[in-house]
Amino acid sequence: MNTPLKLVLIYGSTREGRFCDTVANWATEEIWSRNDFHLDVIDPAELGLTSSQGQDDTAALAELRRRLGAADAFVVVTPEYNHGYPAPLKFVIDSAHREWQAKPVAFVSYGGISGGLRAVEQLRLVFAELHAVTLRDGVSFANPWVRFDANGRLLEPDEPRKAMATMLARLRWWAQVLREARQVVPYGEVAA
Ligand SMILES: Cc1cc2nc3c(=O)[nH]c(=O)nc-3n(C[C@H](O)[C@H](O)[C@H](O)COP(=O)(O)O)c2cc1C
Repeated sequence: MNTPLKLVLIYGSTREGRFCDTVANWATEEIWSRNDFHLDVIDPAELGLTSSQGQDDTAALAELRRRLGAADAFVVVTPEYNHGYPAPLKFVIDSAHREWQAKPVAFVSYGGISGGLRAVEQLRLVFAELHAVTLRDGVSFANPWVRFDANGRLLEPDEPRKAMATMLARLRWWAQVLREARQVVPYGEVAA
């Protein structure tokens, strides 16, 4: 019961020159600094998968499922593309099924004026279908390109850090509670 909680952070963008690296690096450092979770980072750009392989049982796909299946909690770092989420992120989500079940998902989002929140609201619907629990609390960066300096340092860190601390505290609560619940009754056995 006391083994460390495993958190998987997932990059939402694979675009060349993506801002995702800056936001994900910040989120990763915040998670590390709290020492609450064992962290694994999944970057869809480094998985060696293409959408045409999605249905095949490749070694890369099996490895992705293994990493998702080992997680107790997820943080998705996503931008907003045309009021939605990027296709590579959906591909990662669709690559697994039971690996998401009865686990909590939190969001760090960014984009223009909306701060990526429209993408997050759409992702809540997607994760509901996968029996995952999405957190109300998250971190959102509107126009992030003026909020980080050229070295990726957040210029006014207090509010985002506070939001991140709240998000991670609640993510930890959900991760612990749901891990214990899954151990008592495997989610696949829950039926009427
Ligand atoms: C195809 C495309 C569509 C976008 N649509 C939106 C949008 O609907 N709302 C928004 O706030 N920002 C939008 N943006 C801005 C992105 O959120 C912003 O460029 C962000 O940095 C993209 O993430 P990335 O650089 O990590 O790929 C869009 C960007 C692209 C490339």
